[in-house]
Formats: sequence, structure tokens, C-alpha cells
Amino acid sequence: MSDLVIRDLRVNVADKEILKGLTLTVEQGKVHALMGPNGSGKSTLAYTLMGHPNYEVTGGEVIFKDQNILELEPDQRSHLGVFLAFQYPVAIPGVSVANFLRSAVNAHRKAADPEYKGIPIPEFRTLLKEKMDKLKMDHSFAGRYLNDGFSGGEKKRAEILQMATLMPNMAILDETDSGLDIDALRNVAEGVEALRGPDFGALIITHYQRILNYVKPDVIHIMLDGRIAETGGPDLALKLEEHGYDWIREKHGEAAAA
Ligand SMILES: Nc1ncnc2c1ncn2[C@@H]1O[C@H](COP(=O)(O)OP(=O)(O)OP(=O)(O)O)[C@@H](O)[C@H]1O
Ligand SMILES: [Mg+2]
Repeated sequence: MSDLVIRDLRVNVADKEILKGLTLTVEQGKVHALMGPNGSGKSTLAYTLMGHPNYEVTGGEVIFKDQNILELEPDQRSHLGVFLAFQYPVAIPGVSVANFLRSAVNAHRKAADPEYKGIPIPEFRTLLKEKMDKLKMDHSFAGRYLNDGFSGGEKKRAEILQMATLMPNMAILDETDSGLDIDALRNVAEGVEALRGPDFGALIITHYQRILNYVKPDVIHIMLDGRIAETGGPDLALKLEEHGYDWIREKHGEAAAA
């Protein structure tokens, strides 16, 4: 059990400072939402947590399970129990969703126990079936080739199925840029709700009000100009819906208006 603690994180993209001392704790057992206007740095945070090479960390730390995950390779972060959506965005022709997920489960278990011989196929089938039923997914989906000809919503489903199968302790989901229909949004929400529990925390990055109709975050953070400007309860999302971001910009003055 561990919170994800981000302290004074500074990140440059193409030599420009985008995250300017971001401090944020995602508590284990809780679902947090991160909102904020276009260009405030939300996806930059997601890519940085993922370990994307274009995002240069110039200061700060991100602690999870007593380790600074910024010092770990992306797969080590994953083995530690951090799930980052679009970690595997590539299409893999010839590899089915089921085979991909089985390799992912095996990689995780082997990282925890080098002696682990791999999950027996019947056991994996049962696991996968259970997860697909929970997410109300058609079983035929598991036989399709990963991301090969997938629609945006199907990629999202594959991602959520991956999350449900790996059962991470902390998930960071950037939903901002995805043109998801209501069913896909509900799928994301159900995936998060299905994992909800004392050993699971999530940070859902979104500026869609809609997803928050399905996932009920415990805490909402609003990002402005590379920092967290406001943190509050679910009522904060309603306030945004009604008043937009201007009141936050005004409250935080010039720096935020830049
Ligand atoms: N690869 C890049 N090269 C140059 N600038 C970048 C790059 N990635 C991000 N930026 C800049 O960093 C700032 C933050 O972008 P980011 O994508 O993190 O915002 P966001 O909060 O996710 O916005 P949105 O709500 O539109 O998804 C923007 O000004 C953007 O132009
Ligand atoms: Mg974004």
C-alpha cells in the first residue's frame, strides 16, 4: 500500500519549462481527477510519469512504494504496480489481445518472482473471462490482433482490460485527447470502479465533465500553468462546469494568465 507522491516536479519539453513545480499526492484507495485548461500540462505529467524520453525532468521527485519512480525504466514502473494508459500504443499484428495480456501478466509475475514459470493457459483463460465479464466485454475481443484496425474506443477497451488483468496499485489514465463515445467512457469508468478498493489508487486526467458522471472521484485537482492551482471535493467539478476556469485564472493572477 502506498500513495503516489509527486513533489515539486519540473519538466522541460523542447527546452521549455512546462511543469513548474507540481506537487500532488494520489492516495491509495482513492480516485483522483486532474482537470485544467488546454495546455496547462496535464498530458505532460502523464508522459513524464510514463518515462517518455522527450520529457526532461529538471527537478523534483515522484515517490511510490519508497522509490523515486523517475529513476526507473518504464517497465520497472509497471512492475512496481503503476499502470499508465497508452504504455503500449503500438499495433502488434499477429499478436492477439489474449496473448499480449498473458505475456504482460507473466512479465509482472516474473519480475516479482524470477522462478515463476508462467501462468498456465487454463488459469489465464479463467482470469481473462472473469475480467471480460466484469467489464461486460464480448469474449471474441480477446482473439483480435492487438490494436490492429482497432477503433479509438476499442483501443481504450483493450487498455482497460489490460488494467483489469494486471490489477495495478496505481493507475494514471489520460482521457483528455480521446474522442470516446459514451459506451467507451462508461467502459473506462467501469474499469476504474471495478478495481476500486484499499489497494488501488487512480489519477484520471480529463476535461470532460461526462466521464465524471460515471466515475465518482474522491478528490479533484485543477492544474494551471504547470502547477496544481486548486484541490477539492467533487463539488469542484460542478463549479468548473458552471463557471469555467476564469475564476481560477483570476485567483492565481498573472502567472496563470501567461
Ligand atoms: N513535444 C512537445 N513539443 C513542444 N511543446 C510541447 C510538447 N508537448 C507539450 N508541449 C507544450 O506543453 C504545454 C502543455 O501541453 P500538454 O499537452 O501537457 O497540455 P494538456 O494540459 O494535456 O492540454 P489538453 O487539455 O489540450 O490535453 C503546451 O503549451 C504544449 O504546447
Ligand atoms: Mg492533454
